[in-house]
Amino acid sequence: MSIGIIGLGYVGLPLAVAFAETGVDVVGLDVQPRKVESIAAGRSHVEDIPDARLAAVQERLKTTTAYADLADVEAVVICVPTPLTPNREPDLGPLRDAGRRLAGVLRAGQLVVLESTTYPGTTREQLLPLLEESGLAAGRDFNLAFSPERVDPGRTDHTLRTTPKILGGLTETCGDRAAALYGQVCDELVRVSTPEAAEMSKLLENIFRSVNIALVNELAMLADRMDIDIWEVVDAAATKPYGFMRFEPGPGMGGHCLPVDPFYLSWRAREFDLTTEFIELAGKVNQQMPYHCVERIVRALNDAGKAVRGARIVLLGVSYKAGVGDVRESPALKLVSLLRDLGADVAYHDEFVPELTGYDLRSEPLPGALEGADMGVIVTAHPGIDWAEIAAMLPALVDLRGVTRNLHVEHVIRL
Ligand SMILES: NC(=O)c1ccc[n+]([C@@H]2O[C@H](COP(=O)([O-])OP(=O)(O)OC[C@H]3O[C@@H](n4cnc5c(N)ncnc54)[C@H](O)[C@@H]3O)[C@@H](O)[C@H]2O)c1
Repeated sequence: MSIGIIGLGYVGLPLAVAFAETGVDVVGLDVQPRKVESIAAGRSHVEDIPDARLAAVQERLKTTTAYADLADVEAVVICVPTPLTPNREPDLGPLRDAGRRLAGVLRAGQLVVLESTTYPGTTREQLLPLLEESGLAAGRDFNLAFSPERVDPGRTDHTLRTTPKILGGLTETCGDRAAALYGQVCDELVRVSTPEAAEMSKLLENIFRSVNIALVNELAMLADRMDIDIWEVVDAAATKPYGFMRFEPGPGMGGHCLPVDPFYLSWRAREFDLTTEFIELAGKVNQQMPYHCVERIVRALNDAGKAVRGARIVLLGVSYKAGVGDVRESPALKLVSLLRDLGADVAYHDEFVPELTGYDLRSEPLPGALEGADMGVIVTAHPGIDWAEIAAMLPALVDLRGVTRNLHVEHVIRL
């Protein structure tokens, strides 16, 4: 069996490695030559794929920038980005580009699966016509399906194999072929009747998280005004053995998914005369969080008799979540901008993020980074950090992740 993976990022590279580990020959394609070269040289840019895992499949994982190399594979999985335009509308540029170029080499008998998160209707209305520019008909000459990726970077308790995989084929046979493909790397498959149902199920999952995070964030802002410890409230509520699911407040949502994907659906919904209020409201509340956090920082400095202007503020962690180096949409970026606008001298430490491109900042090693600092701010709670030790080295520490809640240190202020 041979398979092509288009887009070797957080989703595509782990998938390529998983298939190669089962003995499948994989052609991994990306438009970035540097990425392709480094993977070929055994260097992984995805934390969940250590170099050793890559090295072990080197024989079966061929990387390329040429779509022509996909002509002989049996199945092609598309994992390209689906971002928003500056006006926050779906940007299907990478997907359309991949579809168009794939059409140029598409062969009868191939299976094409889209994994990129997108609005219901994309596979049928956008990808299908592009692929049919090849002269081949979907469902007759080639098969087409949508199967959303559920990867959660940094997570180790659930893997690609143990996480049920949803898929929806254009036809029954398309679904059968996609099921046969994914059955090699996933223990449990969940077949739905159409690509649209599969597309929307992924969005429901992400919107569910976004709305619940917004709810707890809104309560965190209220708890702050009411002088109630939100972490104590969440810990207490989470003891309910049924009917409650824990979500953590924080400085705002980041990553490629939650701040972006829900708006694919709200955009699509407008075509059906419906305003998706929950999505918009959740987005609004979550976008507000970095501003609330800056206000918290300003107040904490004020309590210490200091102005923000000229204060040295060290952000601890800048990636959007613990254990990964992904800074896309990270709330830390907003915090850097807002604090700099107020005249702060901002520095950061994050062993996962050596530099913040576009911000003229490099990660400063600990403990040196904390010397002379007026305040530390825990933005991302990376594992393996001794927060008590950090707190002891700083005159003031603002904790936006609740990791100090059992520390009982005077000068720590929590969200
Ligand atoms: N990162 C996650 O945790 C996650 C989880 C679930 C779903 N998704 C979804 O999966 C998709 C991919 O996300 P990602 O995080 O892997 O993105 P990514 O940016 O890490 O990787 C995408 C790769 O596609 C390449 N690419 C762009 N245009 C291309 C083209 N025309 N041809 C070939 N390669 C091209 C890019 O160079 C990049 O290497 C998105 O739709 C995302 O919403 C991501």
